[in-house]
Amino acid sequence: SIPVGILGTGKYAPERRLTNEELAQTVDTNDEWIVTRTGIRERRIASPEQATSDLAYEASIRALEAAGITAEELDLIIVATITPDMFFPSTACLLQEKLGAKKAAAFDLSAACSGFIYGLANASGFIATGMYRHILVVGAECLSRITDYTDRNTCILFGDGAGAVVLGQVPEGRGFQAFKLGADGSGGELLRLCGGGSRMPSTEATIAERRHFIEMNGRDVFKFAVRVMGSAAEEALAIAGKSKNDIDLLIPHQANIRIIQSAIERLDLPEEKCMINLHKYGNMSAASIPLALAEAVEEGRVKDGDCLVFVGFGGGLTWGASVLIW
Ligand code: ACO
Repeated sequence: SIPVGILGTGKYAPERRLTNEELAQTVDTNDEWIVTRTGIRERRIASPEQATSDLAYEASIRALEAAGITAEELDLIIVATITPDMFFPSTACLLQEKLGAKKAAAFDLSAACSGFIYGLANASGFIATGMYRHILVVGAECLSRITDYTDRNTCILFGDGAGAVVLGQVPEGRGFQAFKLGADGSGGELLRLCGGGSRMPSTEATIAERRHFIEMNGRDVFKFAVRVMGSAAEEALAIAGKSKNDIDLLIPHQANIRIIQSAIERLDLPEEKCMINLHKYGNMSAASIPLALAEAVEEGRVKDGDCLVFVGFGGGLTWGASVLIW
């Protein structure tokens, strides 16, 4: 099959910063608690005019430029998001129009924080078989729109942003070596948003009961995340025929510094081999991993031939890991 890799990356984060101090003025929390329990110091918030497709557009034009291709050369656009602009049309179709990617098919993918890795796996399959040549995979979220800013358990965690990559053919021996995706629907109630769906259509009551916001059992999600981050990464490495000593850079989902640290320990990694930027952005769900990747590339932390491991977990429950030779 055709070797598939990443030809270019791009990121975008809205200007507006929401600091821990500001949150402490509206809910009963403080900077010290948030930093020690999560590692997060601030997050970015989209302006009232911006929706997810706008953030996705900004990241995408940068990724296209980095890849050296035009939007017209795209065969497919996949947007991983749990905060689409609207139910339909898909955010991917809205993005296709903004980019002028006239020849591209387009669809959204819903796997919460694992969405970007699910998107990479999909895109990689299309290219490996020769069906498509260039695919844009975007993780983009406006989580601030579904965050309950009266709930201190969740409002400290989430932020807005986008990351994008262009996938295409790479030289033999480079590119994606393995994917490991998983799901456990029995844990669906641990992390969800019910209001406005076909089971709970929007009514005055659903609004009054705050059912249009993220609901989370933080402790159980934490335990699940610690368990799955290490095991998914190890399984993907095994499929790729690699060991944890081969990792040059781990790019984990940026949900909580303590979850990341447990993965680092399990993989015996020195901390400098792990990309961490959650102190600046919080958890951006599907956008966290691609934005962290784009930032690592910008900072010169990714070199030719490096072994990268992506690993994420999220609502569904879902998880995913991938091994890539850059
Ligand atoms: N400020 C101060 N105190 C707080 C805050 C806050 N912001 N939030 C909770 N507390 C309190 C709790 O009420 C609790 O008090 P109690 O003991 O009197 O009940 C106490 O702090 C400890 O609460 P825990 O829930 O045990 O705290 P924990 O150490 O587990 O940290 C956290 C909570 C940060 C939410 C953690 O559980 C976590 O990160 N879980 C994973 C969440 C996650 O990653 N979710 C996103 C998944 S991605 C996606 O798909 C969107």
